[in-house]
Amino acid sequence: MTTTEPRCPVSHTDYRHDGPILSHYAMASAEREAEPFYLNDATSHPFWMLTRYEHVLEAIQMPEYFSNSVSNALSPDRKVRFMPNNLDGEEHLRLRRVLNRWFSPAAVRGLDAVAKRRARELIEEFAPDGRADLVDGFALRYPTEMFLATIGMPVEDGPKFLGWVGALFANLYKGPEAEAAVVSIRGYFADAIEDRLRSPRDPETDFLSRMLHPEHGPRWLSHDDLTTVCLSLVTAGLDTTRSGLGYVFAHLATHPEDRRTLVGDPDLVPKAIEEFMRLYSLILQEGRLVLKDIDFHGLPMKAGDILWLGIASANRDPRKFSCPEEFRIDRPNTGHHLGFGAGPHRCLGMHLARHELEVVVREWHRQIPEYSLAPGAELIERGHQLSLRSLPLVWS
Ligand code: HEM
Repeated sequence: MTTTEPRCPVSHTDYRHDGPILSHYAMASAEREAEPFYLNDATSHPFWMLTRYEHVLEAIQMPEYFSNSVSNALSPDRKVRFMPNNLDGEEHLRLRRVLNRWFSPAAVRGLDAVAKRRARELIEEFAPDGRADLVDGFALRYPTEMFLATIGMPVEDGPKFLGWVGALFANLYKGPEAEAAVVSIRGYFADAIEDRLRSPRDPETDFLSRMLHPEHGPRWLSHDDLTTVCLSLVTAGLDTTRSGLGYVFAHLATHPEDRRTLVGDPDLVPKAIEEFMRLYSLILQEGRLVLKDIDFHGLPMKAGDILWLGIASANRDPRKFSCPEEFRIDRPNTGHHLGFGAGPHRCLGMHLARHELEVVVREWHRQIPEYSLAPGAELIERGHQLSLRSLPLVWS
């Protein structure tokens, strides 16, 4: 008896390795243009890949088939179960309901004054030097401080956090330094929880006091779970924003015409940030665990398989975005990008991230309107979850 196996090409592309800036987008775009689906066997756990916008958008909105218990196809065996990231269904929804207000547009507006002040002060510190490695310093320090401000923790704890967050992301959660950083971050929040239990603060402005509040907080969460929520926010929010700043400034340093457009008309900054989030999707992919057998447009997946939703390749799909490799501030459908995801797990911190990026782009260009890459700089991007390893900039 012969059986007809459905055709699915095999990809050996390993997206975990470092490479020159934009090389991962080039690999993803080449694969997308050749085929809509692949089986990727480059890691110890093979996964199905969806490469095109319409399929990624459809699948990302099918939580009944595709579970978030695996949220990264490149490391499906990660030990920590992030919250809300790795929760599904009602358990996920009820936690999002509690968390959403802390990251709502109104909450972010409430931080506007401190966000602008800290951006101005930090940039003033190094502007006279005429040079800075943006990714190594400011781009992590600023989101860290803004995150602490959002949850009502002292901004002065920023430097302490920087060491931990740096260690966590240098090798993407792997290795003894990253493990020690996880212990320290958990310890920091466990101490803060103890402190709030002894002397609760205003639950309207203090995140942990709200979380522990008998009426408003998620009563079903243990204190240990609550430290996991805090750890998850740190891992989801800080490296991503640093990475976003890296690509935005790498683009503006090498495209003086776009930079001058924004310097001349700062009202264009929000549109520019949205287009940057499309063009430079630092989240290459979101992973999912297949819950039930399904034939997805001819791709037969079985319960237990791992799925790669190609966010970055979807955002550069010419079937959806014309001239997708170009930065176009007036692109009519930029807002359809998937840089912050879609569906129930859409980024919790997207309003905060957008606001941080906008504030920094405005404030930076007020103080440093002209700059370029340091001579001889070679920009390398980390594989897996994209981020520039360094971004040396110079100005006069
Ligand atoms: C430029 C910066 C950022 C980008 C590009 C980004 C991107 C994303 C994406 C694509 C997802 C969807 C993941 C999925 O569907 O599995 C996501 C989820 C998430 N993001 Fe962000 N993010 C950014 C900044 C932030 C910030 C600042 C925070 C908070 C401090 C944050 C917190 C989260 C959380 C908690 C989730 C999980 C949401 C859930 O599963 O319900 N992110 N982010």
